[in-house]
Amino acid sequence: MENENNKTEPQLVSALKPITGKSCLLILSILVTAYVWLFSGAFTISRDVVKGPDLRVQETTDGCYLEDKLQAPHLPDLHSVFADRISGQVVFVGLKLLRQTWHRVLFRCEFPSGDISVVHAVDDRRSFGHLPQYVVVLTCPIPNEYRLRSSFNITLRRLPGTDAYRNIKACATSNEKHFLAMCTMVKSVDAFIPQWLDYHRYLGVQHVYIYDNDKPAQSTLQTSLQNYIKAGFVTLIPWAHSTSVNKTYLEVQIAHENDCIWRHKHDVDWMIKIDVDEYIQPMDARRPRIPEYLNDSLYDSVAAVRIQNWFFGHPPRIAPRGDSVIERNRWRAEKHTLQNTGHDKNILRPINVHYYKIHSVKLGGDVISADPYTEMRLVHYRTDNQRARHFDLPKFKERDESMVRIRQALVNHRLQGRSSKNNKRRISKKVRKPKISKETIRI
Ligand SMILES: *[C@@H]1O[C@H](CO)[C@@H](O)[C@H](O)[C@H]1NC(C)=O
Ligand SMILES: *[C@@H]1O[C@H](CO)[C@@H](O)[C@H](O)[C@H]1NC(C)=O
Ligand SMILES: *[C@@H]1O[C@H](CO)[C@@H](O)[C@H](O)[C@H]1NC(C)=O
Repeated sequence: MENENNKTEPQLVSALKPITGKSCLLILSILVTAYVWLFSGAFTISRDVVKGPDLRVQETTDGCYLEDKLQAPHLPDLHSVFADRISGQVVFVGLKLLRQTWHRVLFRCEFPSGDISVVHAVDDRRSFGHLPQYVVVLTCPIPNEYRLRSSFNITLRRLPGTDAYRNIKACATSNEKHFLAMCTMVKSVDAFIPQWLDYHRYLGVQHVYIYDNDKPAQSTLQTSLQNYIKAGFVTLIPWAHSTSVNKTYLEVQIAHENDCIWRHKHDVDWMIKIDVDEYIQPMDARRPRIPEYLNDSLYDSVAAVRIQNWFFGHPPRIAPRGDSVIERNRWRAEKHTLQNTGHDKNILRPINVHYYKIHSVKLGGDVISADPYTEMRLVHYRTDNQRARHFDLPKFKERDESMVRIRQALVNHRLQGRSSKNNKRRISKKVRKPKISKETIRI
């Protein structure tokens, strides 16, 4: 895989240096200490602003999630709050408009024990696609006495100190370790999901975090995905956050991406970040599974492996047949889409990503690109997607059965699994009965 950082994302490394440089940290900690001294006792708390019902949290097997984003005047919109036990930090993930300069503001985390710490966000000014939303993440160390608790209350105060989100419940994340996981957000597309899950599980994905953008009363995913959830393969996350004026619908999408990256910074080595009409296809016959492209210490410091998009579909005159999106769409565009045209997707290494947005790492380590002919490509079944409006699709002229062959191998694999289980059952029954009778005879 080719390192493209110098060509396409020259600011990344230098932008990250202030966070990692030891000398900067020293100066920062001096500044922070000064501010703590200045502000901690200097202002009495007269009013704490917070929107009431927004504070409700929903429990899941993977910790708890805010029912809606937190919003209050003079404070950043926050979509999530959680305690990461591995790093020992409380993490707040929010979104902002460009003109909001939260990176110049200091915040104070206040624990019920009286412990405090002062923190600030790293600036995000990188724009992809001119959409008016940027990421803001705040982290503060968890005092020792809260480290092992499954949840605790925390107050995030803007300094100087009158505006605050008070007593937000921060729950510990589950921290189940996986080499390769996936993360996606969906709304009312249940039918697409099982085949997408089966395909990627077959190719080496160990766990999938599905953020459900449907209101809990309307969502049917808990039922339609119950087998995957019971098997421990899928975690379903309620994520029906409302959208804000002056931000686009992508606000909730970007929030879920950064929530997912930060929650799994220390327990997932690689996180595939794609939609349910997108499939990652390994292109090297000697390496049929996705982990085989990632399991190399050479990639320890990269932030992402970029996968290039290739549209699959069918010519308009041909009626699609088959149960799966793969069987119905056996044709592809002549060429893959070009990089940086808003179609790339990524396999992220969360530990090396600070801010992310849909198609690109905004702040983090190097990005390398997978060759779409010899390594991996993103097969994108856009024609089956109901929201195909306003989307320019290429002509599907090239017959390409390679995905159908993977699906066939998957189906065979599953049938073999079933029949060998059945055989075992049959054999064990056959074996057991004569044994018993023989023993009975002997006795
Ligand atoms: C956490 O804060 C809520 C108010 O938001 C309060 O009802 C609850 O008792 C607090 N829990 C603890 C353990 O202090
Ligand atoms: C949205 O943008 C308009 C025009 O730029 C501005 O007047 C308005 O104050 C903004 N509203 C919010 C809530 O930011
Ligand atoms: C990665 O490779 C090592 C050997 O080089 C192997 O032991 C390990 O199981 C591999 N991990 C995955 C997830 O493929």
